[in-house]
Amino acid sequence: MRPAKLILGGKEYEFPVIVGTEDEVAIDIRKLRDMTGAITYDPGYVNTGSCKSDITFIDGEKGILRYRGYPIEELAGKLIYSAAAYLVIYGHLPDKEEFKDWRRDLTMNSFLHEHLRKFFDHYPITAHPMNILASMIASMSSFYPEEIDDPNDIDRHIKRIVGQVKTIAAYSYKQFIGKPCIYPRSDHSWSANFLRMMFGTPAEEYQVPKIMEEALDLILILHMDHEQNCSTSTVRMVGSSQSDLYASVASGINALWGRLHGGANEAVLNMLQRIHKDGGNYKKYVDMAKEKGSRFRLMGFGHRVYKNFDPRAKILKDTVTRLLADLGNNDPLLEIAMGLEEVVLKDEFFIERKLYPNVDFYSGIAYRAMGIPTDMFTVLFAMGRMPGWIAHWLEMRTDRDQRIHRPRQLYTGPNLQHL
Ligand code: ACO
Repeated sequence: MRPAKLILGGKEYEFPVIVGTEDEVAIDIRKLRDMTGAITYDPGYVNTGSCKSDITFIDGEKGILRYRGYPIEELAGKLIYSAAAYLVIYGHLPDKEEFKDWRRDLTMNSFLHEHLRKFFDHYPITAHPMNILASMIASMSSFYPEEIDDPNDIDRHIKRIVGQVKTIAAYSYKQFIGKPCIYPRSDHSWSANFLRMMFGTPAEEYQVPKIMEEALDLILILHMDHEQNCSTSTVRMVGSSQSDLYASVASGINALWGRLHGGANEAVLNMLQRIHKDGGNYKKYVDMAKEKGSRFRLMGFGHRVYKNFDPRAKILKDTVTRLLADLGNNDPLLEIAMGLEEVVLKDEFFIERKLYPNVDFYSGIAYRAMGIPTDMFTVLFAMGRMPGWIAHWLEMRTDRDQRIHRPRQLYTGPNLQHL
């Protein structure tokens, strides 16, 4: 493609154009400041490509999401968590032998260091499990301070994090309810182990309901990667200074926690509960969101990238309906959610702004049907997203174009002053 031309201060400059494998076009402005003295101004990085990536392709207009080239519709509901995690992290589906080793390694690495386990005793009962998860993962680098340049060491870090993230998540819940923790088993899948550690007790064997195990695999896979979203960009930002994997993904967990990002699934449930307590009048809340100058937003609607529909929400809506039918759960919040969705999809305000239900709109309802407490919703998102964060951290380290992340700014403060 021909170079892009920029006219600035009456002078013409040319910049190379790069085209991705799906014909996405980017203007390479790496030399912009050197050549022109100017920088770009792009709050929220809406138009800024921070890297090249082989991991995930999204077409927000067409509602396309693919991991390593595979459409999400072919992965969610077909693969289990550990297989999809392998695909996202290592770039290909594992063969039989690789899969056997990977599954075993994940289970053998799912036990916490006994000293790290004691940390749980010192969190207050009110601690949010996202805070516990982030600090426990960050603390792991004190226990496993191996080199970050040796690929074998990195592989061990990866297996520990993917293996232990679910153990930490389940233990933080057990801590919260004051019940004993149980250890994972090698004859259970990754998701079954998590459910067993969440709901099982040492007194008797817990039979993991198949429908819950399958639904969890599907939901976690739907969340596994989403290219340069806020938390993934955070992982890359922190990792760009050559921080280790534990520190980098712990930062990602903290970024995910916010309610405009992963925290939205918890916020959706809180909003539905609020509407339910208020007599179920969801139309009042739709009107509140539309009010001029109102800061109230309908949680679970809208997306920075998807402007027609969120393909993950589409898949999840069917699963939620089946899950509720199978578990015999007549949740009044689902009824409110469905009514809300119907009204919003027909409302000019939302149509004009291209605001559709996103994945978080349905994931909260699915978790609730499975008996997972609201505080844990975003933790489950983090468990799903973990392989994506790891894949981006790995990719960034081998990308020769990557440098320490250091955006510029446009200074608007006072001119030189003296005392
Ligand atoms: N409810 C009501 N109005 C909304 C909503 C919403 N959920 N989302 C956006 N709008 C309106 C804004 O008020 C704005 O209106 P205006 O043009 O009259 O000022 C317009 O739509 C554009 O909104 P922006 O904030 O500029 O859109 P942006 O792309 O920056 O934000 C975001 C996307 C953060 C997801 C936003 O839609 C939102 O806050 N949604 C609710 C929170 C949520 O569900 N987050 C989960 C995202 S998915 C994920 O992280 C997995």
